[in-house]
Amino acid sequence: MCGIVGYIGPKAALPFLVEGLKKLEYRGYDSAGVATLEAGELHVSKCVGKIADLETLLLTKPVPGSIGIGHTRWATHGQPSHLNSHPHEDCKSELVVVHNGIIENFLELRQELQERGHVFRSATDTEVFAHLIEENLQGDLLKAVQQALKAVKGTYALAVISKKEPGKIIAARSGSPLIIGHGEDELFIASDIPAILKYTSRVTYLDNGDVAELTPEGSRVFNLAGDPVIKEISLISWDPESAEKGGYSHFMLKEIHEQPNAIRKTIEGRVRAESHEIHFDELNLSDADIRGINRVVFTACGTSWHAGLIGEYLFEQYARLPAEVEYAAEFRYRHPIIDDKTLVVAITQSGETADTLGAVWEAKAQGARAIAICNVVGSTIAREADGVVYTNAGPEIGVASTKAFTTQLTIVYLLAIMFGQKRAILTELETAKLVNDLIEIPQKLEETLLGEPIVEEIAEKIYGATNSLYLGRGKGFPIALEGALKLKEVSYIHAEGYPAAEMKHGPIALIDKNMPVVVLAFAGRRYDKIIGNVEEVKARGGQVIAVASKGDNLIAERADEVIYIPQTTESLSPLLAVVPLQLLAYYIAVKRGCHIDQPRNLAKSVTVE
Ligand code: G6P
Repeated sequence: MCGIVGYIGPKAALPFLVEGLKKLEYRGYDSAGVATLEAGELHVSKCVGKIADLETLLLTKPVPGSIGIGHTRWATHGQPSHLNSHPHEDCKSELVVVHNGIIENFLELRQELQERGHVFRSATDTEVFAHLIEENLQGDLLKAVQQALKAVKGTYALAVISKKEPGKIIAARSGSPLIIGHGEDELFIASDIPAILKYTSRVTYLDNGDVAELTPEGSRVFNLAGDPVIKEISLISWDPESAEKGGYSHFMLKEIHEQPNAIRKTIEGRVRAESHEIHFDELNLSDADIRGINRVVFTACGTSWHAGLIGEYLFEQYARLPAEVEYAAEFRYRHPIIDDKTLVVAITQSGETADTLGAVWEAKAQGARAIAICNVVGSTIAREADGVVYTNAGPEIGVASTKAFTTQLTIVYLLAIMFGQKRAILTELETAKLVNDLIEIPQKLEETLLGEPIVEEIAEKIYGATNSLYLGRGKGFPIALEGALKLKEVSYIHAEGYPAAEMKHGPIALIDKNMPVVVLAFAGRRYDKIIGNVEEVKARGGQVIAVASKGDNLIAERADEVIYIPQTTESLSPLLAVVPLQLLAYYIAVKRGCHIDQPRNLAKSVTVE
């Protein structure tokens, strides 16, 4: 939550600061601000609202200079207000700080600082940094920041500029992501890659405890004790276009449409064409290691948790291994019973979710092998886990996850099939069939997307609803949960996902003619039972919107609306069935005039517990 940027170079800093913040707006968008240095003077501009509001303010109050920092906020301490917006200043307004993270001992520090005469202007935890640095500043900003950081407990990615040392930015990281981008004769800092992608693909990932000094001559990194730290420069393979809307009205829609290719890229290089053998060399898991694992625990938050739930079903089915999915925040504090024979699989788009990171630490502390399924290369979880499989979905900017989910699912399928194969549960023939069916999914997804106009028409009919229910059985249940979550996130309609059979134990009481009920009714062994649930809803006057397999005429006689998906193996249907539900949520939100890519109160990357 919160995004920070910084620039030092020969050009005006402001255009990059604003553009970079726009790319990070998915991390928080309740207030924003920038600060620059010119001719030894600090210029600060900040306001409540989105980056667009900041841009308007900057028209009348531009900030000059070729050194600057910026911030987009997702409020934790203190409501969104001008005073609580970053950057924050010290008492003398000689230095400013932007910060992403949470300072846990800020109340104690604030009191001590106040007792020593510091005057606070905001209710934020961040402001303690400004005063701590001020206290330690005796002619060396780098040292002052290092000293200040020693006093704080919590997480931070921060950047500081001071008019006392106008030729530099000091940046530091512990627990919240921060990268340095290396341009021709300019340097950038940012919380995430999309902010700098247009300017450079050469980055340095800062690690916890790193403090960087950026000057026109280059960057140097130190630890808190002041010793130099040697850092590598990595090349980012994402194409700058991938962080643009590319003609779509929203990132969410663009990302929904990117799914066929994203899944192709996820599969690419991981399946040997002739033998259908699946390999994840990056995991360093030998066949013996795989056979030694006696339990799999998926752990994740939000949409990624839904991918984990399907993982639970798949590992039980294909690999006959006890498997379960755990909410990361529960798992990490629950004394989980795991050991060196447990494989913990953290699923995370961003690789920065605080609870998922905590779950990885907990798993490792208990001696389990913790691997990650992650989208963002070089992210914290990717680096902390014992192994990482990248989803290769490219940057996902829309706050509501779409292509990250289907590519996570693709990896989960591949892993489950691989485990089934290596554990000799799946025969060669079964493996070949599953792999072939998976390889066909991208093309079937393209076909699914052709049904978009039908989904839009359905959205037109139900966008005024206030409640809705999503039902599924087996692997349709996680998709019901995901469909309901998408609708809540982007349209603010209350939606619940339920195992269809459980409907009669409560939710059925809510059903009336105003209640759209979305039913995952794709072909498979539970089909007849799902039809039974459809009848139950219809008998109570509910409107049924079914997602069914092509060629199913029976459902058309029972449901009010049917969205067809191509036929595939039952266990792969979730990959297709989720897409119309993403589109349904999207079009309902469009018709309700919602902020689709940045829904209220949400942030894409949740770096607080
Ligand atoms: C936030 C996002 C969700 C995401 C969840 C987990 O809530 O809005 O879209 O599913 O975090 O994020 P992760 O990056 O760990 O997958």
